[in-house]
Amino acid sequence: MAAVTPARIRLTRPDDWHLHLRDGAVLHSVVLDSAQQFGRAIVMPNLKPPVLTTEDARAYRERILAALLQASEQAGAQVPAFDPLMTLYLTDRTSPDEIRRARDSGFVYGVKLYPAGATTHSDAGVTDLLGQCQATLAAMQDCGMPLLVHGEVTDPAVDVFDREAVFIERVMQPLRRAFPELKVVFEHLTTADGAAYVTQAEGPIAATLTPQHLLYNRNALFKGGLRPHWYCLPVLKRETHRLALLEAATSGNPRFFLGTDSAPHPRGAKEQDCGCAGCYTARHAMALYATAFESVGRLDRLEAFASLNGPAFYGLAPNSGTLTLERVANPIPQELPLGDDVIVPLAAGESLAWRIEAAA
Ligand code: DOR
Ligand code: ZN
Repeated sequence: MAAVTPARIRLTRPDDWHLHLRDGAVLHSVVLDSAQQFGRAIVMPNLKPPVLTTEDARAYRERILAALLQASEQAGAQVPAFDPLMTLYLTDRTSPDEIRRARDSGFVYGVKLYPAGATTHSDAGVTDLLGQCQATLAAMQDCGMPLLVHGEVTDPAVDVFDREAVFIERVMQPLRRAFPELKVVFEHLTTADGAAYVTQAEGPIAATLTPQHLLYNRNALFKGGLRPHWYCLPVLKRETHRLALLEAATSGNPRFFLGTDSAPHPRGAKEQDCGCAGCYTARHAMALYATAFESVGRLDRLEAFASLNGPAFYGLAPNSGTLTLERVANPIPQELPLGDDVIVPLAAGESLAWRIEAAA
């Protein structure tokens, strides 16, 4: 029997376990979009220059909270309860002492691995994980500090659509053999290979899933022409992969949870001869996920994915508030303000079936 779709759903207030907030005017423009839906967010460290130390993370966290306060005042809105969970950017030179400082800070929740050259602002990333970072990874394992992984090889000989599958063999498996107790989050999973690996692997591993990888396949990049606002990294894959990801997200397996990877770039930075990777999904995040879960009749599993599985993996309690979604047409604007510029959100011009009614 087909599930009956409710008119509204009330969830424990969700969290976003993978978010790019940037800095300065962009941070100011985007922070409320996330804070109005999510109680917490894991904030990515790929600023320019990157967030390398606990001190950098402390200063960035203060800028985020100041921007939230100011943006709320300007919008005439109550300041939402929002806790930015900070991360450090792993380099070949990150020291074990820095890991211990991060753990002691109480506000650093993960260390992000960007293979050098894999994506936006990743040039300072790691060149040889097991060669260069042994002592640091050992300290992370000892401290219970999660490693958040951009799981793509950067070898130009590997086809761009195969880079996640090859990463599992070349990096993920040797890493987890060497550090079996290290907590690992396979970020923004995009393939059936990745979903199978995370489902079957032993030890503390989980994965985040973005709305774009649950809702679209790679045809979206070429629909009637080249579509830069659907371009992110890892790139959208073929339909079989999308279906495997949707199955993983809605399976009830606690290893899979919400991470938007919302990544703001101004319109001009995407619409040019070498456009930036990243989809802006923060404003409509929960409506996008609800649309994906509804498509397979599994709205009953949205709360675990969005609000419960993530905190359980990170060893935190779920949020105390709630978020209510109502089944009302929700058109996505063609563009949104971004400082003095504009940003084109994912699926601009399309209409979603869900919108946020209330957060409490
Ligand atoms: O599409 C992406 N955009 N993927 C990433 O890994 C980074 C992100 C960004 O920072 O713009
Ligand atoms: Zn990201």
